Amino acid sequence: MRETVHEVTVQAPGKVNLTLEILGKRPDGYHELRSILMSVSVYETVQVRTRADGEVTLRTIGEGVDCSELERLPMEKQLAYRAVVAMRRACNRPDAGCDIRIVKRIPIGAGMGGGSADAAGVLCALRALWNPALPEADYLAAGASIGSDIPALQLGGAVRMEGRGERVSRLLPPGTPSPKPFWLVVVHPGFPISTRSVYEAVDAEDFCLTQKAGICENCTRSVCSGDVRAVAQSLFNGLQRTVSRLYPNTEYFETALGKGGAIVTLLSGSGSAVFGLAENEETAKQIQRSLPPNVWSNVVQTLPDGVMAAHGPLVP
Ligand code: C5P
Repeated sequence: MRETVHEVTVQAPGKVNLTLEILGKRPDGYHELRSILMSVSVYETVQVRTRADGEVTLRTIGEGVDCSELERLPMEKQLAYRAVVAMRRACNRPDAGCDIRIVKRIPIGAGMGGGSADAAGVLCALRALWNPALPEADYLAAGASIGSDIPALQLGGAVRMEGRGERVSRLLPPGTPSPKPFWLVVVHPGFPISTRSVYEAVDAEDFCLTQKAGICENCTRSVCSGDVRAVAQSLFNGLQRTVSRLYPNTEYFETALGKGGAIVTLLSGSGSAVFGLAENEETAKQIQRSLPPNVWSNVVQTLPDGVMAAHGPLVP
C-alpha cells in the first residue's frame, strides 16, 4: 500500500524590531536582550511535504532577493534544515523525512528575520504534519534551539522578547481586537550584515548606551493603542550606533526615508535594512516613490499574527 503524502503550505512573515535593548553580555557569550518586535507583511512561502523514505530535501527560490549566499551553504547549516532536525527531536520522529520548498522574499542579512522566518515556517508546517498536539512550550523551545529570533517569529504579531530571545510573550492576548496596523517603508541597502559581527563590536560599547529607561513600556502602550505618533516616539535600537559606525551607508538610507516623509526612521534589528514609519498607507507609498531607484524597498504593514498554515491539502 502506498503511504499517504501530506503537504502543508505556510506563509511566514518577517519582522522589524521597534525597540531593541542590549542589556549586557551573558556567561554563554550571547547578549541579554529586551525587544518589542512586530511581524510585517513581507512573507516567505514555505511548502513542506512528508516523505516516506526519511530523506530531507531543501530548495530555495529567490523572488526579488539574491539567494546565492544561501546556495553556497551546506544544507545542514541552513536554518530551515535545522528546523527539521529540531522537530524530529521534539516530535520523537527521528526517521521522518520531508521535501521543503521556500519562496524567499525577505532579503538575507537584513535584520528582518528572513532565515528565522524560514525556520519558523518549517516548524509550523512540521507541527501540523507530525504532531499538532505538540505543546506550545516544546514548540517554542525547538525554535529557540535553532536561533534567538525564532520563538518571537513563531509567536508572531506584536511580541516582547527577552533573555537571549527565548522568553517571548504577546503584547495583546489572543482574541483581543487588533489595533490599526502601522505602515512602514523598509529599505535594504544591498549588502548583508552578519549579526554576530555586530554583537562582537557592541562589546566595545558602554551598555548604558545600548538601552533606554522606560522605552519598552512606552512602546508596548503605544503599540496597544495603535497610535502611530506615540509609536514614533518610542522607537529605539541599541545596535544603531555600532552599525552606523561599521556601515555608514545605512544612515544614508535613513536620511532618504526621512526626506521622503517618514515620521521617524530606525535600523531593523542588526541591519542592514532600515525602515521609516509612515502616517498611513498613502504616505508610505509616496515615501517609497521618493527613494533612489534600484534599491530593494517594500511598503509593509504590521500584522496581528505570525507564521500561519495557509492550506494543507492531503495529496494521495
Ligand atoms: O541566535 P543566533 O544564531 O540567531 O545569533 C546569531 C549571533 O548573534 C550569535 O552567534 C551571537 O553572536 C549574536 N547574538 C548575541 N546575543 C543574542 C542573540 C544573538 O550575542 N541574544
